[in-house]
Amino acid sequence: MKRRTISIFCLIPLLIVLLSCQKESIEADYQIIPLPQQIQIVSNEKPFILNERTRILYPEENKGLKDCAQLLAQYIKDKTHKEITIGSGKDTNNAILLQILPKDKNPEGYQLEVSRQHIIINGNSEAGVFYGIQNLRKSLSIAQDNENIILPAVHINDFPRFPYRGAHFDVSRHFFSVNEVKTYLDMMALHNMNTLHWHLTDDQGWRIEIKKYPRLTQIGSERKETLIGHLNDRPEKYDGKIYKGFYTQEQIKEIVDYAAKNHITIIPEIDLPGHMQAALASYPQLGCTGGPYEVWTKWGISENVLCAGNPETLQFLDDVFDEIIQLFPSPYIHIGGDECPKMRWEHCPKCQSLMQKQGIKSDSKYTKEQYLQSFIMKHVTEYLKKKGRKTIGWDEILEGDTDPQVTVMSWRGEAGGVKAAQQGHDVIMTPNSVMYFDFYQALDTEKEPLAIGGYIPIEKIYNYNPVPSQLTDSQKKHILGVQSNLWTEYIPDFSHVQYMVLPRWAALAEIQWSNPKQKNYDNFLNRLGNMLKLYDLEKYNYAKHVLNVDATYTSNPETGCTEVSLSTLGNAPIHYTLDGSIPGSQSTVYQKNIEINKTSTLQAIAIRPEGNSEIYKQQLYFNKATNKPLTLRDSADKKYNGQGNGTLVDGISGNATFGSGKWLGFSNGKDMIATIDLKREMPITSASLHTCIATGDGVFDAREICVELSTDGKVYHKVASETCPMPTEHQKGVKLHTLTFLTQTARYIRVSVISVKQMPAWSGFPAIPAFIFVDEISVD
Ligand code: ACM
Ligand code: ZN
Repeated sequence: MKRRTISIFCLIPLLIVLLSCQKESIEADYQIIPLPQQIQIVSNEKPFILNERTRILYPEENKGLKDCAQLLAQYIKDKTHKEITIGSGKDTNNAILLQILPKDKNPEGYQLEVSRQHIIINGNSEAGVFYGIQNLRKSLSIAQDNENIILPAVHINDFPRFPYRGAHFDVSRHFFSVNEVKTYLDMMALHNMNTLHWHLTDDQGWRIEIKKYPRLTQIGSERKETLIGHLNDRPEKYDGKIYKGFYTQEQIKEIVDYAAKNHITIIPEIDLPGHMQAALASYPQLGCTGGPYEVWTKWGISENVLCAGNPETLQFLDDVFDEIIQLFPSPYIHIGGDECPKMRWEHCPKCQSLMQKQGIKSDSKYTKEQYLQSFIMKHVTEYLKKKGRKTIGWDEILEGDTDPQVTVMSWRGEAGGVKAAQQGHDVIMTPNSVMYFDFYQALDTEKEPLAIGGYIPIEKIYNYNPVPSQLTDSQKKHILGVQSNLWTEYIPDFSHVQYMVLPRWAALAEIQWSNPKQKNYDNFLNRLGNMLKLYDLEKYNYAKHVLNVDATYTSNPETGCTEVSLSTLGNAPIHYTLDGSIPGSQSTVYQKNIEINKTSTLQAIAIRPEGNSEIYKQQLYFNKATNKPLTLRDSADKKYNGQGNGTLVDGISGNATFGSGKWLGFSNGKDMIATIDLKREMPITSASLHTCIATGDGVFDAREICVELSTDGKVYHKVASETCPMPTEHQKGVKLHTLTFLTQTARYIRVSVISVKQMPAWSGFPAIPAFIFVDEISVD
């Protein structure tokens, strides 16, 4: 009995030692997104160990920092499963201290100090503490239940580059629930964004309750059906289903409060005087014709706009904004101003008579209707100014007689932003060429969900600088920041919303927050892996393009090979096959360019512990012309130049997306006239090629194709030709042209693809030359 007692007590310390030895540890990584301004690892100091006994301390009675402490405890639980207690107290050992001791004037700046005893998150304000918490949250590695987290000693000093770090969200074209908007806000907070630009009204739906005008939501929040497919598709098809949704004022308040907890200001947009058809459907007297109108069921720009000449319209706007400012504490209100057709005003007696009364006239710069738009925008700006609010407008607000107090949102490229800053307006940059996240994320759109068009890959976003170089230093100060825009015509559900903005927001966050001098895309990609793991943890649906295998093909006429370079995110190994077998970890590891010299199927996969990429697959067909020297009489358009002339003979045929980078495109009446040197004389009996057709975009089939042969490269004789019929309206797709002839021996072959020089009236581009897209010339 005695012996047993002794033996158990002897074993307990041993057990403790064994258990603590078994405890795994995992190290934090401060290389987060957005990259902090300064990270200084203190190598001679011992690290902090985060365990179950760590506490979060906030100053007593500080409600804001208590909220922050709760948020941090939740983040730590999500990432490490550890339930950390929060409280106020003096014993700072093994604690995370939240405090506000302003070090400089940037209210969003913070310092994160990690030492053996504790972690201090010191903010210049509560917002600063919040961003310090976001930093700590991202630096922590994802841990299993019993793992300790080691945080190397560090001094981080951080602050944002821009005070305005925005994301826009269109909830008119498609409606998103209160919880979905909250998740959008959570996602924004993760990326250190501080402004939601909430596009609440448009032709296709009015989404916010206005008590004085109940029909806005009774009628205006519901459309009878929705266009199916792309706006340019013909014939138009509709789904026949009612689509509706709006936020009550109570719900708006709930969302505004939720945003405030995440240090996000919501700027509401009431888009006027255009994009108002849902309001006109509710109150037809506000339109020039008096209606009737219906909530719009298709996409595009409606001609039905607010009647500027009706005094009721200005009263309506004043009343709506009275309720808006009660709901949104934001210093800024967005009043739209984009895409307002003037056709109705030109024919409206009320609008014409108002212009006469006000002495509004056309001049050499703008029409009187453009000045009429300024009249309304200025009315609203003045009204809101009296109530203590500033206004933001889309860059059309610069047309006519602009109110100098308006902040300009530059969306039609950067020109509006440059002009506005030069005139002394504050500016928010959101050029459609880089910041429209409703555009495609891949050139090859066949595997992508339908999008409005365009192509904005993450690298393009990362490389964008929102401060135009032509501005002077004092003008540059007017650039308040940058935001992404998410129009939702083609984005019907929230999972798709997430797919369009993630991980693009990671690149945007870095433009909005980090020091541009530290910009490095490869370094960003290395840091992106941890962010993607966090998206997985939060169950956010994100686009996986960066995780997949990407391939670039270059035709090498010297070796006759197609050289393939493969890449993927980080250092994940890529394995590939060329024989049609499914690639896996047993397949050849990609190390350097693959040289392919015969018909093959390339398949590749990136292998990662957390999950493999999709299988990449590309068929290569070799024929007598493949990878032979090819010259062009007219060069292809810069934008549609593939990998150079060799794209036409690299063994790969383009699919139905003319912008995929696998086609060569010729415009302005140019033809595709290619001469191929087969390097020796050989018997030839046919030549074929593909054209890509998309008449809606002015991309037509050839008018005529001709094949000529030569033995010396000087004298050519025609062996075959064909005249192609004019394409039909709304024609789309790839067309194969094969020209056969009696077998002849030749070394040189010239293929001429003559473009359509005048498009028909139905094309929408009457009497101008069509684009011609050609790929993969083969010779047999
Ligand atoms: C816009 O894209 N119409 C601002
Ligand atoms: Zn009118």
